[in-house]
Amino acid sequence: MNPFKAFLIEEKDGVTRGDFVSMDEAQLDPGEVTIKVTYSSVNFKDALAATGAGRIIRRYPCVGGIDLSGTVVASTDPRFSAGDEVIATSFDIGVAHHGGYAEYARVPAEWVVPLPAGLSLYDAMALGTAGFTAALGVVRMEQNGLEPSKGPLIVTGASGGVGSLAIDMLAQRGYQVTALTGKENEVDYLKSLGAAQVMLRSSLDLSRIRPLDKTLWAGAVDNLGGEVLAWIASNMKQGGTIASIGLAASPSLNTTVMPFILRGACLLGIDSGYIGEPYRSGIWQRLATDLRPQHLPTLTRSIGFDELPGIFDDFIKGRAHGRVVVDIAGA
Ligand SMILES: NC(=O)c1ccc[n+]([C@@H]2O[C@H](COP(=O)([O-])OP(=O)(O)OC[C@H]3O[C@@H](n4cnc5c(N)ncnc54)[C@H](OP(=O)(O)O)[C@@H]3O)[C@@H](O)[C@H]2O)c1
Repeated sequence: MNPFKAFLIEEKDGVTRGDFVSMDEAQLDPGEVTIKVTYSSVNFKDALAATGAGRIIRRYPCVGGIDLSGTVVASTDPRFSAGDEVIATSFDIGVAHHGGYAEYARVPAEWVVPLPAGLSLYDAMALGTAGFTAALGVVRMEQNGLEPSKGPLIVTGASGGVGSLAIDMLAQRGYQVTALTGKENEVDYLKSLGAAQVMLRSSLDLSRIRPLDKTLWAGAVDNLGGEVLAWIASNMKQGGTIASIGLAASPSLNTTVMPFILRGACLLGIDSGYIGEPYRSGIWQRLATDLRPQHLPTLTRSIGFDELPGIFDDFIKGRAHGRVVVDIAGA
């Protein structure tokens, strides 16, 4: 194992930067399961962490990468043995515990999920935290009574990771999905994932959001927050459900209680970070079966480990397209 390559994020004089370094086993964080990492991925949060554009890292220095998949090399927990293929995402990974942008990782057993039958290590990272969160949003909305007969849904931040995967999952479950995007050139892509309609953000007048507007949406997956989320809330149908997932546009929410008390709209907070077992494995099982996206290969591209530093700017500037898998092992 020693030495191995890692992308370490450090803060010096108030400036955050990530660089490739050589690490050894003794520098890994504590945990029961040591994993040879095959793939990681890039999420919006990874880009915020690596560039310092968001206060994501809670312990410097920290190997970045909130997602990883790979093979167990050693485990002191009886649930895992050398040779097992596993996934580890969320919790403190890549934010307060060395993450997936390294050839080796060591994490607590509670954070590790066995790779479900039907998914490869590559598929698992094509999904990653984005796919896990999109699936969690779908499950939570359906537990709240959402079904295709209730009416159309809107997905915002549509061309990004969570957005693309949510469109795919919802469309194949029979929902009529409207994709809201800032990118004119992504219309064909979003329709190919199953969007029935594509709306451009520039077509919305967000300067005058009424407390109650038209009843357009039975459901919403929101990755943006801010004015777009306020506009969605005022346009919900009676009993509609919003899954609030992201803040790519803004962490603010300036709305009224009217949609919630006069239309019975629900605002569900979706937090993928600290959901433990058996719920976590249950969501991954569904990602391998009935929630498995149909277009995973077309919405995912792979980059080499060396290409990682060059990718973050696209995410920060809102230019992300689908999912990016990082080929850590050169598989
Ligand atoms: N709650 C959780 O547990 C959880 C888990 C995963 C992700 N998230 C959050 O969910 C959001 C999406 O994550 P992701 O990994 O899918 O991100 P991503 O791949 O970077 O996609 C984000 C998309 O949002 C749109 N966008 C980006 N910046 C924007 C801006 N300033 N104003 C308006 N639209 C903007 C763009 O899509 P269009 O141009 O198509 O609109 C972009 O492609 C992020 O805020 C992330 O932190 C939360």
